[in-house]
Amino acid sequence: MAEPLTVVITGAAGQIAYSLLYSIAKGDVFGKDQPVILHLLDITPMMGVLEGVIMELQDCSISLVRNVIATADPLVAFKNVDAAFMVGAMPRKDGMERKDLLKANVKIFFEQGQAMDKVAKKTVKVLVVGNPANTNACILSKYAPSIPKENFTCLTRLDQNRAQAQIAAKLNVTADKVTNVIIWGNHSSTQFPDVAHAKVDLNGKVVPVREAINDDSYLKNDFVASVQQRGAAVIKARKLSSAMSAAKAAADHMHDWFFGTKGDNWVSMGVISDGSYGIQEGLMYSYPVRIADKKWTIVQGLSIDDFARGKLDATAAELKEELEAAIAECT
Ligand code: NAI
Repeated sequence: MAEPLTVVITGAAGQIAYSLLYSIAKGDVFGKDQPVILHLLDITPMMGVLEGVIMELQDCSISLVRNVIATADPLVAFKNVDAAFMVGAMPRKDGMERKDLLKANVKIFFEQGQAMDKVAKKTVKVLVVGNPANTNACILSKYAPSIPKENFTCLTRLDQNRAQAQIAAKLNVTADKVTNVIIWGNHSSTQFPDVAHAKVDLNGKVVPVREAINDDSYLKNDFVASVQQRGAAVIKARKLSSAMSAAKAAADHMHDWFFGTKGDNWVSMGVISDGSYGIQEGLMYSYPVRIADKKWTIVQGLSIDDFARGKLDATAAELKEELEAAIAECT
């Protein structure tokens, strides 16, 4: 059996971690024969709750988990980690805008970046889930300069999964039949869920989603809005932000980073922009990426029409503003 991977989950006593830990522990993320050592970080007042989560993890009786370390000290939590799920942050409440969250959460990532810089492996693969996820990931990377920028990503896979599921429901197929939906930009209500290059397998015949749905008005309006607003709709109904689906998406993201994408398929991930598609360099922007040998590359050469151009630029403008506000909070 392989040497254990050391994996940190921050916000480990919270609701996303509660689902995510089980997925990781049973091998959904790193493989069914890959042992893991889990480092669980939360704040001191949550250590009692975390103890209960660890008891449950033990009671799942899963042999892949070789050791569990619970701590409130980032220097312990990030020590020698191979993969990091950065979930710990304050979640958005009903009626709260993501910008309100920025102030509260960005400082966490400023501090944790510095700790990660000191003690994490330089090869660590980092997925930021805590909102505002894109900007937090930028800040984390900025304050962990000894770790390559391409090792920092943020979660927009939940938006991709939501978009895929909506298209699948519309066409009465299962979600796995829908591929190459793209989420561009920020994990916020300015994101652009784009099906211009998406495909669907209808009874063995692969056709463009646009052709299969044949309703551009729906795809440009209701579809886009429903994906953009899905997080808010879940909060309204559950009085809590998405957790089970967020954990599933985080597991999907890290799994694909480790195991790669298949054939012509791509997935969406927030990554540091290199200027592709006219987006300002240095923003943490969600792009379509292909992954091989544990390295992602932005899919190039996709056609962008005027409608899409406007959407790509609007979400980039929001990210630029968010990043400037975040940097101001850290100085
Ligand atoms: P939660 O409130 O249930 O758990 C958050 C945990 O983080 C708590 O246990 C809290 O004590 C901990 N925490 C707070 N400050 C911390 C620090 N400095 N270090 C370590 N842990 C700390 O929240 P939930 O529902 O698990 O959500 C976590 C984050 O994920 C929120 O920011 C939420 O908005 C975000 N989220 C992101 C999604 C995405 O698609 N990118 C989707 C859904 C949620």
